[in-house]
Amino acid sequence: MPTFAPNSWEARAERSVMFGFTDLPSLHERGPLIITHGTGVHVHDVHGRRFLDANSGLWNMILGFDNRELAEAAKAQYDRFPGYHAFFGRISDQAVALSEKLIEVSPYDEGKVFFTNSGSEANDTMVKMLWFINTVMGEPRRRKIITRLYGYHGVTAVSASMTGKPYNKWFGLPLADFRLTSCPHWWRFGLPGETEAAFTARMARQLEELIELEGPETVAGFVAEPVMGAGGVIVPSQGYFQAIQPVLRKYGIPLISDEVICGFGRTGTMWGATTYGFVPDAIIASKAITAGYFPMGAIILGGALAEKLQAASEKIEEFVHGFTASGHPVGCAIALKAIEINERDRLIDRVNALAPRFHARMARLAEHENIGEARGIGLMGALEMVADKATKAPFPAAAAVSEKVANRCIDNGLICRPLGQAIVLCPPFVTTEAEIDWLFDTLETSVGEVFSEIG
Ligand SMILES: Cc1ncc(COP(=O)(O)O)c(C=O)c1O
Repeated sequence: MPTFAPNSWEARAERSVMFGFTDLPSLHERGPLIITHGTGVHVHDVHGRRFLDANSGLWNMILGFDNRELAEAAKAQYDRFPGYHAFFGRISDQAVALSEKLIEVSPYDEGKVFFTNSGSEANDTMVKMLWFINTVMGEPRRRKIITRLYGYHGVTAVSASMTGKPYNKWFGLPLADFRLTSCPHWWRFGLPGETEAAFTARMARQLEELIELEGPETVAGFVAEPVMGAGGVIVPSQGYFQAIQPVLRKYGIPLISDEVICGFGRTGTMWGATTYGFVPDAIIASKAITAGYFPMGAIILGGALAEKLQAASEKIEEFVHGFTASGHPVGCAIALKAIEINERDRLIDRVNALAPRFHARMARLAEHENIGEARGIGLMGALEMVADKATKAPFPAAAAVSEKVANRCIDNGLICRPLGQAIVLCPPFVTTEAEIDWLFDTLETSVGEVFSEIG
């Protein structure tokens, strides 16, 4: 364990900060990384070290860490009108303009937008909307929410209940009414000899069996990420959404696309749903909505669901829900600017231009005997490490291989994220070709160093 001087940033952080989602053995061994500022796709720490952040912060900083236009938009809005709410029929002009813009860039001709401060709150709000519609409209038993094993939807009590990660048992979650169906990761969960098409058909069958088991009249909604992000960049098996959407339609169950990671271009189109050829009943957006320059989440309801929520609200005279800072005018001004830059600078074209280079380098890494799968789409990818490539056997958890690789990357000036036994990469959209090359050169070196030490 390193010893830091008592007044060092590291010692101060360890004394005063309760770290979340942080591997504590690694933290104690290495100390925290304390960042002061960013330039382009790099962040700088208190010791003057520079790191290329291959995770765009937490998927969100798609325009890098020093975009002047976003900072200017924030300053201008702080000067003009620094804060307001969206209760009692009062709302800022910026929140109205952003609602219109989000509908314009959505797959919907018409719809309605509701703002939150995070992706978790957006998912939580979405579930409350479904519960509210069903309760007010006389179907109070229709409450169950189906999500997928390894899906990630957030950390509030409801959104954690939607999250299919084993650690939620430590909170005594999920709450009642939350159910999981299978994870469509063919490489990991395909049966011996099962084709991808047969696997996809099995996923749809298992979903239908679950709906039948629970009672279709008790199911309020199905929520899915187009590509599972925090589950380890799990790309759905071929035809997955085309196979499950008819099942959901058969039972009148809304399909909600959690686009907190996929939204705004990460997968190579504006929405992951578009990339995978389906139209959801509602979209959950956050993260890149403000390019990470302000906390914000949004629910974009398609026309039909918006009408239902409006009708239920009219019935009892209001939709009794909202957060003090929902639709904050500064956040909305930043989001409007971020979307303007995304469109003006054709950043989704840029994602598609960088993607072949990104995936070619991923594939090259997958030639390593301990990389079992290189997966991803657009500018998101994961490298799954395995002890045995033929059997896909993982390393013992205690070997902490992904932490070791990620820590070595940090030593070499690269930030990337360990997730289970995978390394996740999702660089900002403004990354240059040369920076992509440097990222992978550094990752290759780090992987080589760690595995030669493991032996
Ligand atoms: C798909 C998805 N949904 C929801 C969330 C929760 O968002 P937040 O951390 O803003 O609450 C995340 C966060 O990573 C996410 O990846």
